[in-house]
Amino acid sequence: MKESLGAKTWAVPTPVWVVGTYDDNGRPNFMTAAWGGVCCSSPPCIYVSLREATYSHGNIVSRRAYTVSVPGEEYWREADYMGMASGRDTDKVRDTELTAVKSELVDAPYVDEFPLVLECRVVEVVKIGLHTEFIGEILDVKADKDVLTDGAPDTQKIRPLLFGTGDRGYHTVGVRIGDAFTQRRPPAP
Ligand SMILES: Cc1cc2nc3c(=O)[nH]c(=O)nc-3n(C[C@H](O)[C@H](O)[C@H](O)COP(=O)(O)O)c2cc1C
Repeated sequence: MKESLGAKTWAVPTPVWVVGTYDDNGRPNFMTAAWGGVCCSSPPCIYVSLREATYSHGNIVSRRAYTVSVPGEEYWREADYMGMASGRDTDKVRDTELTAVKSELVDAPYVDEFPLVLECRVVEVVKIGLHTEFIGEILDVKADKDVLTDGAPDTQKIRPLLFGTGDRGYHTVGVRIGDAFTQRRPPAP
């Protein structure tokens, strides 16, 4: 018998994404977002959901662009810091000693040290409640060569951070257990 836990945001796990934006002075800012995911295959789109109170929210509204940089597990402390401090009060690029690279495709920076980057232009903005969902069309995906297998990002090589919404902790990915889209028949009993 399952226990009812109430109306919570306890879908587990979520990604740990670092959203890159420029402020009105052209200064790069990075904030951590766990409320994000893929929302369309064609055109390829992702979303990030940000509270209006974040500095990044205003930056995205002004520039209509953002990047998502996916940190490897070794960067969990930097990701956590970028989810605690605000670009309104401090320069998180300086504080973390990460490198902000200007995207050539969209008006936003990305984190050079992180292995996977998605560059997005905003195509829809949906105010839901506390959060505003910014749907971004992916104009390009950039990845370090050493995290690719057959030209595609390899989860086992990226070792992306995961967020446990219920336990409020950072997790790493486990092992690859099977090939997707292969089971045309029910599993044998
Ligand atoms: C693991 C983690 C996940 C977070 N996810 C989100 C999120 O999805 N949306 C959001 O608005 N804030 C989220 N935050 C909080 C923001 O990152 C935080 O308010 C940050 O200071 C905002 O930075 P900014 O003011 O420079 O934009 C998260 C924080 C952490 C540590």
